[in-house]
Amino acid sequence: MRPGPGALRIAWYVAGPMKSYGIASVEEGRSILAKLGTPPRLLRHTVLVGEAADLLVDTLTKLGLPLDAHFVRLGVVFHDAGKIEHPEELARPGRDHEPSGQALLLAAGVDAALARCCISHARWADMEVSLEELVVALADTLWKGKRNETLERRVVEGVATRLGRPLWDVFVPLDTLFEDIAAGGAGRLARSLEA
Ligand SMILES: [Fe+2]
Repeated sequence: MRPGPGALRIAWYVAGPMKSYGIASVEEGRSILAKLGTPPRLLRHTVLVGEAADLLVDTLTKLGLPLDAHFVRLGVVFHDAGKIEHPEELARPGRDHEPSGQALLLAAGVDAALARCCISHARWADMEVSLEELVVALADTLWKGKRNETLERRVVEGVATRLGRPLWDVFVPLDTLFEDIAAGGAGRLARSLEA
């Protein structure tokens, strides 16, 4: 019998070293973004979403989850890169930045898996995505205090599957975590608007 995608992912984490994606740190990722012409407000957005991502990564790691935390942190740095070319979408909703961000990053030599976060952070419901991509999307939702039941459920299911534990075992600690992160949303939103 062929192993399912979940089993393959677990095998990869057990067997494989963590990838660097050619970028050593979040700071290096931000400097790549800055060189592409990122406006200060977009850089600040990556910092604020990064705070939510760090809280997610910390708790998921403490639960014993094998997680590619480097991917999550870099995915957060790059997910809205398309707003360099579509700055109007910093202030109002729009989807043009999603494909343009992926193309911009690929042209700059950024790893394709990371560039894909430009699409997956917004279209996770309509495409096959990794748990790491879902965590990027969730950080981009919770940072401002927004809750998305469907996305949270997908993350909880993904964590339970990867840990080989029952859903309800991980639901309570994760729901508490999501609530805690969302509770800091008003403060982060205020900081995102600071001049
Ligand atoms: Fe974002």
